[in-house]
Amino acid sequence: MNSADPGEPGPDFERAVQWLRQSRRVAVFSGAGISAESGIPTFRDTDGLWERFPPAEYAYWPGLLRKMLFRPGRLAEFLHAVLEPIAVARPNAAHHAIARLEKHTDTTVITQNVDGLHQEAGSLRVREVHGSFYKIVSLRGRFLRRIGKEDLTRVVERLGRARRGLFKRFRLLRAVRPLVGVGLVSVRRPSLVLFGDALAEPDWTWAQQDAESCDLMLVVGTSGVVWPAGLLPPRVLGRGGRVVTIDPHDQGAGQLWLCGPAGEVLPRLVDAAFGDSTAERRT
Ligand code: OAD
Repeated sequence: MNSADPGEPGPDFERAVQWLRQSRRVAVFSGAGISAESGIPTFRDTDGLWERFPPAEYAYWPGLLRKMLFRPGRLAEFLHAVLEPIAVARPNAAHHAIARLEKHTDTTVITQNVDGLHQEAGSLRVREVHGSFYKIVSLRGRFLRRIGKEDLTRVVERLGRARRGLFKRFRLLRAVRPLVGVGLVSVRRPSLVLFGDALAEPDWTWAQQDAESCDLMLVVGTSGVVWPAGLLPPRVLGRGGRVVTIDPHDQGAGQLWLCGPAGEVLPRLVDAAFGDSTAERRT
């Protein structure tokens, strides 16, 4: 029953259009794949980040600390590989289609991404369950301030230099100063959720409520293997809700699978469901 040809809207596509029209509350659950067309690599595809930087070493705070002490140049390479694409990325057609969806139906975005692209596209209700590079918090997670793209760009430039030459650790610490450091009253860090951390609050509590109350969940560009976030689609299914997967590979999360890049599938889906004539939010 899967529509496996991205060029041809199949029966799954037609049903997904109907489901979208019928839904009163939609939750979009997004992962790295939605930002792939903005130039940000995913984690687990063949050219993914975890291929080059094993998660056992780079996805935990203690692992990062060890790299800082013993291999600062390699840590600078990792951070550069993560941050450079984010600093230059712009929302793609998929982010914009989701922002448009908000004009037609009650929509919440639950994202595992830390790139801020949903908000940049105009989505208003975004749960960042794995945190954000743009939100700086204290060691215990108290919000301190927001940083902008220009701050990230500066960090990236300095990281580029810290990868090579002498005094790598010193240069690395100087490069990441807008993100990480010791202030007068507290230690600051980005609000990122790494492996072993609890998910970001209050976003995670809200995301679970969204999964309880939506009638349709669109699962976009995620392998769904990282828990507990990956438990949300099964939870929607478990209470009789509808789940549609949008991904070039079927990750098995939904009853329907729309095969293809999110930047092609999502705009087509939103257009087919609402076109231009239903631009007002439904009551
Ligand atoms: P993954 O790299 O695990 O999965 C990316 C998904 O995107 C795969 O299902 C791809 O098929 C799909 N994909 C690739 N290109 C796409 C495109 N153009 N359009 C739509 N889909 C596309 O990334 P996530 O599922 O987001 O967490 O990973 C989840 C978490 O694992 C991340 O938040 C991060 C990582 O470790 C932490 O670090 C805590």
